[in-house]
Amino acid sequence: MADGPAGFGHVPVLLERCVALLTPALTRHHPDGSGAILVDATVGAGGHAERFLANLPGLRLIGLDRDPLALDITRTRLTRFADRVTLLRTRYDRIATALTETGCGATGSVDGVLFDLGVSSMQLDRLERGFSYAHDAPLDMRMDPDSPLTAADIVNNYDEAELADVLHRYGEERFARRIAAHIVRRRAVTPLTRTGELVDLLYQAIPAPARRTGGHPAKRTFQALRIAVNDELESLCRALPVALDALTVDGRVVVLAYQSLEDRIVKDVFRNAVASRTPAGLPVELPGHAPEFKSLTRGAERADRAETQRNPRSAGVRLRALQRVQPPQQARRHD
Ligand SMILES: C[S@@+](CC[C@H](N)C(=O)[O-])C[C@H]1O[C@@H](n2cnc3c(N)ncnc32)[C@H](O)[C@@H]1O
Repeated sequence: MADGPAGFGHVPVLLERCVALLTPALTRHHPDGSGAILVDATVGAGGHAERFLANLPGLRLIGLDRDPLALDITRTRLTRFADRVTLLRTRYDRIATALTETGCGATGSVDGVLFDLGVSSMQLDRLERGFSYAHDAPLDMRMDPDSPLTAADIVNNYDEAELADVLHRYGEERFARRIAAHIVRRRAVTPLTRTGELVDLLYQAIPAPARRTGGHPAKRTFQALRIAVNDELESLCRALPVALDALTVDGRVVVLAYQSLEDRIVKDVFRNAVASRTPAGLPVELPGHAPEFKSLTRGAERADRAETQRNPRSAGVRLRALQRVQPPQQARRHD
């Protein structure tokens, strides 16, 4: 994994594009960002956050992350901006509560929201956290080390059908049932506790011809377990509508997704957000039924070759962005 600036371990993806998309919303009242609030819902190592704070000396940033180690790194990295930064350890689907706790309202209160989904390079590089199939480590995969469920819990306790369902749904693994059967046979002898044991098992479970063509045989299973352990997709489904509600008129949201399951959720929520509520066939927009958002991107944007060569992590990224053009029409219940 490429190392980040000043050794922070994570190179921010599509950084210039995120700056170009969000800056107009953050500077529309003052060119230095005074009075504007940016929520970095996945602050991670603070790479994106640092750039916005450095560019806009009046900007206030609220950074969320569920991983306390990421927040420690970010706190150090952003020390020089400390008076303009609030860092909160929380899941991003608790964004409304986080905003209320920081004194902002949960609706119509922020000018920009950034989601840079998935795991960071630092999380992958911390071998003991078990995210990587390339190194032997405990079967853990928790982004929040205090959350109750580990990958070992799933592998050793879910019944065969539940296991196959996780692998199929979150990993799009076509050998899900075979792998689940292998796991159940193996754990009847001894529980699986290490990533290396699971990788060995996957080599046995996936037929040799498929192993030669389908990428690393562990890739899809590891993705599936990580998503299940961290409740990633459901968390994103809950978070996006709440993040959209948090935006003021002319506020903008940018989402960077790294796998198709996440991107599908973003695409669906965004498609709904830009849709008119006026019944089809009426010649004029009914009052209060106009679209609340407009799209700032056509389809999903990808990183160019130069960036993917510089930062291999950017290879799978899909960026989508919206701008709020109408106030929220219906009040949503926030937790
Ligand atoms: C790709 S990294 C962000 C990197 C960051 N943009 C940077 O430039 O350093 C994603 C971060 O999101 C965090 N994360 C993932 N899911 C989360 C969730 N549901 N709630 C809060 N943080 C989450 C991870 O812990 C990780 O630190």
